[in-house]
Formats: sequence, structure tokens, C-alpha cells
Amino acid sequence: KRGAGKIEVAEPRNKLPCPAPSLPTDPALYSGPFPFYRRPSQMGYFSLDAQRQYHGDAHALRYYSPPPTNGQGPNFDLRDGYPHRYQPRDEEVREGLDHLLRWLLEHRGRLEGGPGWLAGAIVTWRGHLTKLLTTPYERQEGWQLAASRFQGTLYLSEVETPAARAQRLARPPLLRELMYMGYKFEQYMCADKPGGSPDPSGEVNTNVAFCSVLRSRLGNHPLLFSGEVDCTDPQALSPQPPTCYVELKTSKEMHSPGQWRSFYRHKLLKWWAQSFLLGVPNVVAGFRNSEGFVCSLKTFPTMQMFEHVRNDRDGWNPSVCMNFCAAFLSFAQNTVVQDDPRLVHLFSWEPGSPVTVSVHRDAPHAFLPTWYVGAMTQ
Ligand code: A3P
Ligand code: MG
Ligand code: MG
Repeated sequence: KRGAGKIEVAEPRNKLPCPAPSLPTDPALYSGPFPFYRRPSQMGYFSLDAQRQYHGDAHALRYYSPPPTNGQGPNFDLRDGYPHRYQPRDEEVREGLDHLLRWLLEHRGRLEGGPGWLAGAIVTWRGHLTKLLTTPYERQEGWQLAASRFQGTLYLSEVETPAARAQRLARPPLLRELMYMGYKFEQYMCADKPGGSPDPSGEVNTNVAFCSVLRSRLGNHPLLFSGEVDCTDPQALSPQPPTCYVELKTSKEMHSPGQWRSFYRHKLLKWWAQSFLLGVPNVVAGFRNSEGFVCSLKTFPTMQMFEHVRNDRDGWNPSVCMNFCAAFLSFAQNTVVQDDPRLVHLFSWEPGSPVTVSVHRDAPHAFLPTWYVGAMTQ
């Protein structure tokens, strides 16, 4: 039985309070066949510069440039430059969907899919969808998604939970350095020009981003979403985006079968969800030792990741992830009925509980900016 059939729907009853609608997240409820997922196609892109300013171009796209495979393996010092050559993005700035909305505003006249396609679509960040995909297996971090319907389109924008905010503000120094190391790895693996060489002497500025904008469909839910792309492989066999894109990741070096098992169960799920959604075919991992050096690389094809947990009782299942996401999108579509950019349905989830909903108007939860609503209303 698919979980979608198990949604509690509030039905009017005489003199009885309506039970608030909620959506369960237990993996067992979503273990049907893999749902339809349209091959994601790139509709456009944009870049964010060192000051986090939007540009409707690809200048921030970097080119995959792995070290030569002859001789010894890599020896990347991921701590090099920390903290003096680090310009971290200001995480207090709540961007919401703004950059994606700017792209959408500038391209709304020439979207494929025919007239009315956008009105039936869901617009969000890929990262929000990644969180939905991993929800049935997540035991640590909850999430909140704000939803507004405007001109038919359902917009989903994540809200930082109070717990996540508290954790971020109290982030231990070692975790801050670990975050830097993930970006530093990208610098060792990417060049600014196709065929160029990486330059690890520069600064690491996490304001800079290249974002692909894609169209897909999950079940009967048309999707328009954007996701950050680490780099493109100039030598990719299929040069067409998103299949030329490469996702870069770092992870702790593993020394025992137990460590590998845990990596497959937890980390590979997140890597799979993130790259599968956008259609990125390969994730290149750099394994760092206790001194923070990457001495080995391994490529994980996205479509082969599930094989590592297929026969694992405590593993994850792509069908469960996608069926839950489809069920959530149906739940959201059915809950957010009123078309009003100032009205917000806030979907909240904590591990071990179902997804619940609360309703809000205007600040602080409304997230569709007046410049967007105004321009779209012209
Ligand atoms: P890792 O590759 O080591 O995870 P992404 O992999 O999505 O391109 O993100 C690049 C880096 O951003 C990550 O490197 C990590 O350092 C940092 N990062 C991304 N998401 C994070 C999160 N939720 N918490 C902490 N750091 C994060
Ligand atoms: Mg990235
Ligand atoms: Mg990455």
C-alpha cells in the first residue's frame, strides 16, 4: 500500500473538531514501485558572484580538473588557507527563493512546456527536495517548509528551524573548519577554464555559486527547481547538461568494513538524493585523513549507489524516497488551496513524528517578495 492513501484528511463532522491533516513518514508506508521521474532537463542557469550578487550568466561555472592519475595519488591539504583565505557566506541573510524567482521573472515569457505550464508547477530549490527525499530515513534533523500558491504555481521555501538556528550559532570551531574543507576540496579539483589547472593559492569564497535551473516531473507534479552545481566535466562523454555535471564531496577515510557500511547507509543516501534529483551522473569523493589531507579519490556513479545497500536490511530504498516526496507534494497541493502570495502554509517535521501544518499570513513567514508579485501581476 502506498503511503499516499494513508493521509489523514480532515473531514467536517457535526460538532466534532476536525483532526488537523498530517502526513506520516514511516518508510514502510512508501515501499511501492519507483514512481515516474522525468529526466531533468536544464532550462537555464545563473551565477552568484563573490558579493552574492545575481548574474544571468555562467561565469561561476567551474571545470572538473582532477590530478593526473600517473605516479602518486593526490595530497590535498584541505586545511590550507583556513581561516585567512576564507570568505564565508553570511548565513544570517535569508535569501529564500529570491535568486530563482529573479531567473523565473526574466524567463517567464519563454518557458518550455506550453502556456500554463508554470501555473501547474511546483517551484523550489533542489536542496529542499533533497530533504524531502531523505525524510523517511532521517533520525536527527527536522525541517520546515513554507508554501504559498500564486497564479496557480506552488512555491516551496525552507525555513530554518529554531533548533537548526541554535546549532548554527553555536557551531563548534572544528565543524566550521570542516565546512571550509569541503569547499577547499572543490578548489583543488576545479579550474576556472576548460582544460585549465586548479589554483589552490586563491581565496575560498562561498558566496560564489553556479546554479542550474531544471524542469522535471515527479508523478503528476511538474517541477521547476534550481540547484548549485560544483563543476562541469569538459571531457564528459555526453556534454549536454546536466549529464556533464560532477558533484564533489569529501568524507572521512575509512579503515573497516563497518565504517564503509555506515557510509553507505547514511552519507551515500544524501549524496544519491542530491545528485539524482538534478541528473548529475557522478559524485567524486575525496577521502580525508585525520590530518585533513585527501590522499585518495573515488567516483561513485549516482545510478549505482543503491547497489551498496540493496541487500542491507538497514539500508535505504530510492523508491521509498521518491514515493514519500510525491506523497508530500500531493499533500501540499491539496492543503494549499487559496491562491494568495501573502498566505503561508508552514509544513513542519521532526524525526519520529508525522508532517504537520500551520497557517500564517504576511511577516515573518511570507516569502514571495513584492518585486516578484508586482512584476508577475503586470
Ligand atoms: P562536502 O562535500 O565535504 O560535504 P556540496 O557538497 O553540496 O557541494 O557542498 C559543499 C560543501 O559545503 C560541503 O562539502 C560542506 O563543507 C558544506 N556544506 C554543505 N552543506 C552543509 C551542511 N548542511 N552543513 C555543513 N556544511 C555543509
Ligand atoms: Mg556544491
Ligand atoms: Mg559538493
